[in-house]
Amino acid sequence: MKRRGFIKNTAALASLAMLPSSVWALTKNQKLRTAHIGVGGMGAEDLESIASHPMVEVVALCDVDSLALDTAKKLFPNAAIYSDYRVLLKELKNQIDAVIVSTPDHTHAPASMMAMEMGKSVYCQKPLTHHVAEARAMRKLAKENNLITQMGIQVHSFYDYKLATLLIQAGIIGKVETVRAWSPKNWGYDGTEPIGSDPVPESLDWNLWLGTSAKRPYKKDIYHPMNWRKLMDYGCGTLGDMGVHIFDTPYNALALDVPKTIKNKCRKPTGYGFPEHNMVTYIFPGTKYTTDTLKWVWYDGEGAPENHKDLKLPNQDKLPDQGAMFIGEKGKLLLPHFMQLPKHIVDGKYRELDLSIIPNTGALGEPIRDYASEGKKHYHQFVDACMGKDECTTETILLGVIAGRFPNKTLHWDNANARFSEEEANQFLDAPYRDF
Ligand SMILES: NC(=O)c1ccc[n+]([C@@H]2O[C@H](COP(=O)([O-])OP(=O)(O)OC[C@H]3O[C@@H](n4cnc5c(N)ncnc54)[C@H](O)[C@@H]3O)[C@@H](O)[C@H]2O)c1
Repeated sequence: MKRRGFIKNTAALASLAMLPSSVWALTKNQKLRTAHIGVGGMGAEDLESIASHPMVEVVALCDVDSLALDTAKKLFPNAAIYSDYRVLLKELKNQIDAVIVSTPDHTHAPASMMAMEMGKSVYCQKPLTHHVAEARAMRKLAKENNLITQMGIQVHSFYDYKLATLLIQAGIIGKVETVRAWSPKNWGYDGTEPIGSDPVPESLDWNLWLGTSAKRPYKKDIYHPMNWRKLMDYGCGTLGDMGVHIFDTPYNALALDVPKTIKNKCRKPTGYGFPEHNMVTYIFPGTKYTTDTLKWVWYDGEGAPENHKDLKLPNQDKLPDQGAMFIGEKGKLLLPHFMQLPKHIVDGKYRELDLSIIPNTGALGEPIRDYASEGKKHYHQFVDACMGKDECTTETILLGVIAGRFPNKTLHWDNANARFSEEEANQFLDAPYRDF
């Protein structure tokens, strides 16, 4: 698959007749009418940030936990409220233009696809989907229906990341051979599935929370809220949580496509929780910014990254907690995550960043160190319908997650057919949807 942004800007659209309803609303200078699915946790931030755009009218709120819904309803008393996104979408089909999906990962694709099939533009939290097959299906649907979509990667438009991209593309370290990226966060769980069940809280509709995933007894503090990330049926581990942010810049800077091989050094799978430590090695086909192939190593879990000579800093400086190191023919570029300038390292010494090598510094903007205001811009871009987002990063992340089911085995990815050469891995590309 080539790198395909969805819709770069409204001007790129062929004719008004083909426009999704969100673009209609904007071109007619009407407010964008939004429906928000999942309004607790990150969904509350998504709601507040999208609604802070003056051209947004929040029409509907949906959550399977009435406590989250009550809090959101206080902020938007005129919005209709729902616990089941299917009912919301059917009932308000003609009263909404865009849908924001901020649920746990396993519900991203079912809710987004239903909205996209109705021609709605979708802002979906990261990682875009829970399965590779869903990511491909969403990409196809967005393309066929000419839809505007965006994924929740706020740092995509931050100064330091854009600067690193331009410096790498201008050849500051020559062709890049290796990227090492890390996060010491641990969204893994090496234990077994807890036995028994707990009473479902009155505020929660557990069947709707499970959604298309298999039926399972409710256990307090194990799934909802947040901890679902650790579990294979609902989340994507630390790769899906932090990898997706940290991969974004190297991915774009190096114009990468999907990897050829993937290997995860981790513990044996339990089928329930993700490994608490992962070291995933991807080999990508080369691009104009890399050597013939590019090696990419991801480390997560407590203590990450493992020591490696590539990660040594001058003056015995400590590595940032999270980040990525580009290793090229002429030096290294460190990109801390986040809100810090990249650092150029040559022959074991820091070098001042030479911005004169960048052809168009005008595209950079200013280094603003205020996350609250910078983060909002990203949401407003969606509302302004002017940014497309490539979903290859999601696919790469999910391939690494699947490799965790086959510790230390190199899996070969056949991009054209969207299959592994190792047949036993293909069963994890998709999962059946439960009727709920
Ligand atoms: N971009 C970022 O910086 C960032 C940060 C945190 C989380 N996230 C993403 O946001 C999403 C949510 O994460 P979270 O930490 O807020 O999780 P959470 O479990 O804390 O909150 C999820 C919310 O969705 C609701 N929900 C669950 N299933 C639902 C359904 N079927 N329909 C409607 N509502 C439903 C829950 O009740 C809860 O209010 C995840 O995809 C996560 O990766 C992104």
